Amino acid sequence: MKNTVVVGAQFGDEGKAKITDLLAYNADFIIRYQGGCNAGHTVVNEGKKYKFHLVPSGILYENKTCFIGAGVVIYPESFKNELNELINQGIKEEHFKKNLKISPLAHITMPYHIDSDGANEDNLGGNKIGTTKKGIGPTYSDKYARVGIRVEDLFDKKALEKKLDIILPLKNKILSEVYHLKPYSKEEILSKLDEYKALFEPYVCFDWQELLRDAKKNKTILFEGAQGVLLDIDYGTYPFVTSSNPVAGGAGVGAGVGPLAIEDAMGVFKAYMTRVGEGPFVTELKDATGEKIQTVGAEFGVTTGRKRRCGWFDGVIAKYSVLVGGISSIALTKLDVFDDFDEIKFCIAYKNKLTGEIIKSYPTNVAKHYDYEPVYETFKGWKQDITGIKRYEDLPQNAKIYLSFVEEYLETKIKIISVGADRDQTIFK
Ligand code: GDP
Ligand code: IMO
Ligand code: MG
Repeated sequence: MKNTVVVGAQFGDEGKAKITDLLAYNADFIIRYQGGCNAGHTVVNEGKKYKFHLVPSGILYENKTCFIGAGVVIYPESFKNELNELINQGIKEEHFKKNLKISPLAHITMPYHIDSDGANEDNLGGNKIGTTKKGIGPTYSDKYARVGIRVEDLFDKKALEKKLDIILPLKNKILSEVYHLKPYSKEEILSKLDEYKALFEPYVCFDWQELLRDAKKNKTILFEGAQGVLLDIDYGTYPFVTSSNPVAGGAGVGAGVGPLAIEDAMGVFKAYMTRVGEGPFVTELKDATGEKIQTVGAEFGVTTGRKRRCGWFDGVIAKYSVLVGGISSIALTKLDVFDDFDEIKFCIAYKNKLTGEIIKSYPTNVAKHYDYEPVYETFKGWKQDITGIKRYEDLPQNAKIYLSFVEEYLETKIKIISVGADRDQTIFK
């Protein structure tokens, strides 16, 4: 297998984890390159469901190195809970100690980041983003303001104290005077950071440069993205986005390998679209069809439990996503959700509700999205259970017509079709 990056091509939750887990079979080294515990990644193997937030979705294999890269932000409390839940499900702690590694350069989400995520959202009122409240925005803000705390800082107590002496008074001032929240004492934070050090110690990889050097020379690398292109801080529906770069270009930076190490970028698309949180969604269905997709697709957020908003596949967004996401091949998931639909729609353009103007190119000013309605191409459903089909040839003709249209419209080959949540409910085309 070529070194491949798995990119969410819509608004997140496309089934990236299922695809990462599948491709990881042929990889040696799996690197998560951005995001934090805002991600909720599900892998189902022989009916058993595993939920990941920070741990790369390749961890279920015996001998694969799973690396949490420099571009990721880590909320230690969430990391601890995630490991405990997986250990309760039967994965041995020793397995993590052997296979899971964390970059010392990854930034830490501090308690005050969590507080200010909630407070920022309250402040935005009607314009809120609907974040996961996992401190993602505030952690990345501090990283870029150069006042963040990195995993490696935990291992140099003297320097860490000095850093805190500068950072904490300002944080406390904002917490108490702007947000009217409780400030933190230095002792409180230092004791937390001691806990975090003990938590991360078995996993921090200080010889990561050697590890990467070896991976680039001798190993197959799989890069795992979180979120999706339309949630990208630069290319997404700003400001209704996350604070990192899920696009394929983000993988080189977040993993520390450079663009030439990436040979294929597999964009994961659902056969329809979902969105959690606020923000425009031109093909959203606020009717019985939307509810049917939500129910049949079991569309609930893995991290927050929120109901996902649902709508038809948006080709305008998808074409844009292929372009800026750097996508070179496609995995199409959840095709089986349409098994009982009479017809399936695919948005090929936007029509301005006032002027009637038709556009095919994605409008980046999201305030304008509310002026548009979708123009659809309609396909006949197949009215057949496809969840057991293993070969492309055996798919119903109407499903093949829909898939061919997706390929032609996006001028990109579909390599994987997913017809159920389980590992083996997959068609390699
Ligand atoms: P991710 O964040 O992109 O990894 O996706 P999530 O795990 O948040 O959401 C995808 C959901 O769809 C999970 O519950 C998966 O188990 C499930 N899933 C993935 N592929 C398929 C599929 O082809 N069919 C069905 N019915 N479910 C799927
Ligand atoms: P995975 O990796 C879907 C959304 C939030 C909110 C916006 C900003 O499972 O696909 P944040 O907490 O990041 O500041 O929230 O982004 N969001 C996701 N939506 N899947 C995700 O991750 C998401 N991570 C963040 O709902 O709208
Ligand atoms: Mg998810």
